[in-house]
This record gives sequence, C-alpha cells and structure tokens, in this order.
Amino acid sequence: MAPGSLVAPNVESIVPYVPGKPIEEVARELGLPDCVKLASNENPIGTSPKAAAALREAAGRAFLYPDGSCFALRAKLAARHGVTPAEIAVGNGTNELIALLARTFLSSGEEAVISATSFPIYGLVLQACGRATTVVPMRGHRYDLPAMAAAVGPRTKLVFIANPDNPNGSYVTAEELSRFLDCVPERVIVALDEAYFEFVEERDYPDATALRRRRPRLVVLRTFSKIYGLAGARVGYAVADPDIVSYLDRVRDPFNVSALAQAAAIAALDDEEHVQATLAVVREGRALLARELPRFGFTVLPSVANFLLVEAGRPGKELFEALLRHGVIVRPMASYGLPGAVRISIGLPEQNARLLSALAAVVARLRTAGG
Ligand SMILES: Cc1ncc(COP(=O)(O)O)c(C=O)c1O
Repeated sequence: MAPGSLVAPNVESIVPYVPGKPIEEVARELGLPDCVKLASNENPIGTSPKAAAALREAAGRAFLYPDGSCFALRAKLAARHGVTPAEIAVGNGTNELIALLARTFLSSGEEAVISATSFPIYGLVLQACGRATTVVPMRGHRYDLPAMAAAVGPRTKLVFIANPDNPNGSYVTAEELSRFLDCVPERVIVALDEAYFEFVEERDYPDATALRRRRPRLVVLRTFSKIYGLAGARVGYAVADPDIVSYLDRVRDPFNVSALAQAAAIAALDDEEHVQATLAVVREGRALLARELPRFGFTVLPSVANFLLVEAGRPGKELFEALLRHGVIVRPMASYGLPGAVRISIGLPEQNARLLSALAAVVARLRTAGG
C-alpha cells in the first residue's frame, strides 16, 4: 500500500455492486407512480402472510437485542434438513455468509475459483478480502465444472457455485456435480449457493444435502429472500459441517440476524401455502414470457428459477432505459459481464402483461430509430 493511501489497492479497484433500481427512485425520477419492478428476482406474490404477521408481532420487541445464536430458527431448519443445529449457520442474507466464508477460510496466499458471468457478489467479496481468484468462463451459459476442477490448484481453498445460476437460469446436474467433487481435493471448501433451490423441479438437480455426507467441506447456502418473500428482512443460512459453522460463528457479528428477521423466517417455514402459490405464479409466468419474448427477436435462455436471461441483440442498457420510461424496471446485465442482455424477474400476470405491452412499444420505436 502506497504511503498515505486511504485504502489498499484491492479495495481501490472494487467496482461497487449495482442493485436493481428501487421502485421509489424510478417513480421519483420519471414521475411514474405505478412502476413494476422485475429486476431483483423478488417474490412476485410478496411476503409470506405468516411471516408478515410474525414481523408485526415481533415489532414490539425490537428494543431487545436478538438471540445471537438464532436458537429457534436453527432448530427449525435443522429439523427440516435432518441435521443437527450445529450444522446450521444463519446470516444476514446469504450475501453475508458468502462474505463470511471468504473472510473466515481464505488465509493469505490461499485462492478461490469462481465462474465468470455468474453472481457478481463472489468476485466482489473475494476482492474485498484481497484474495487471488481464478475466474473460469461459462460454456453455453452453464457452469463449466470440468474447467473449474482443472482451475483448482494447490493454493485453492474455496469454490463458489451458484446452482441454479443467477443470472443465467441454468443448473448443474447431480452427475456433473458428483464428477466435479470427485476431481477436487477434499481440503477445498465447495460452497453451493442454492438461493433459488425451491424453484427447481428438474429431476436431475442434485440433492446437495446428501452429498454432504460424502464430503464434509461441502457448504449448502439457502435464502429466505426468494421463495419466502423476505428479501428485505435479510435471512440466509448455510448447512455445513459443525467445524465450519463454529468458525463462521467466531468471525460473524454477534447479532448478525435481527430479531424481526428471525421471527419472520421461523413463521415462513410453516407457510407451505405461500410457497405453493409462489411456485404456481412463477411456473405460469415463466412459461408465458419464455413463449412471448422471442417474438421481439430476443433469445431467451432456459431457466429453472424465477427469472429469465434475455439476449436482446442490442445493448441491454438501451432496452433497460427504454423500458424504464414505461415504468417497467428490468436489470441490465453489463455488470454481470453480459452487456447484450437483460434479466427479467417473473412477475404477477398483470406485471408480465405490462412488460410485454411496454416491450411492444419500445421494440417498435427502437426498430424505427434504426436500431
Ligand atoms: C445466486 C444468489 N446467491 C445469493 C443471493 C443473495 O441472497 P440474499 O438475499 O439471501 O443475500 C442472491 C440474490 O439475488 C443470488 O441470486
């Protein structure tokens, strides 16, 4: 670090994560009161009603510090997964657990392997820790696990795999994952980020919890942000070896998950009706958009999650900005390394319809303008 520098070079060179544009911001900037946000893969039907009731109930106890051990939530998650509470770590969103894994387990000189054009947070947290990272290209919008296994070297300690992947919507099969694990030394921690696990209905999708029996250093990450509609409450969890959990416990903030978030997550786990209703809306909306979007000349990648990656055949930013003027917020993908694409979250039927009619206007105008 140069004398007098405020931060180390790895921090200086961080390009901040750009979240989906909030509805309030678009409404303010464009004077559009009724915007539709299809930009952050949130739950189209909203928060689980049981979780919302638990949040209201917990509000009166917000003056108390939360249970720093997340005792009740961990017990419930452990029962759900057939593991012990010592195998559950809870985080302020999965994002916190991703950062904690890097901070806790990567010592100086140790490295990580991630995939290009996948969830950008992996690269960001590794850069923030100043750890060397090998970035392996995807193959046809899918994780190239043989290439990732080949990239694992003597210093590699941590691998992140998003399954399903955000933003590509693709997934790694049980067989592919199994072959990968056979090739990667046992000392390597493999973090399987299953943020969209609950949306996947494919039969060849891996049962990562079962694979943990074979490989203690496999860490499974899940979130309450998507299927349970609690993105704003911030709760994610890891199912992992007790040793891994206990080291994460040493590094994390003692009160990393708020009391409100814990109460909401516990209640959400009992709301199967909300889960099923979410799946029905996503299934139907995804099929509709996958059918309709190609009519605009776009290529729509197959997706097993609650969003679609759309190759627009023009800069994604241009499409994003044009749709914004119609009050529809999608996500341009340049910051994910896909400048010609946008990612569209599946919305409610009326939101999907609004997207399609905005697109009809936007695409016609862009074509007339010679684009
Ligand atoms: C692949 C993936 N992992 C993790 C997350 C973060 O989840 P959380 O809201 O629990 O931090 C997301 C959110 O979009 C995601 O797409």
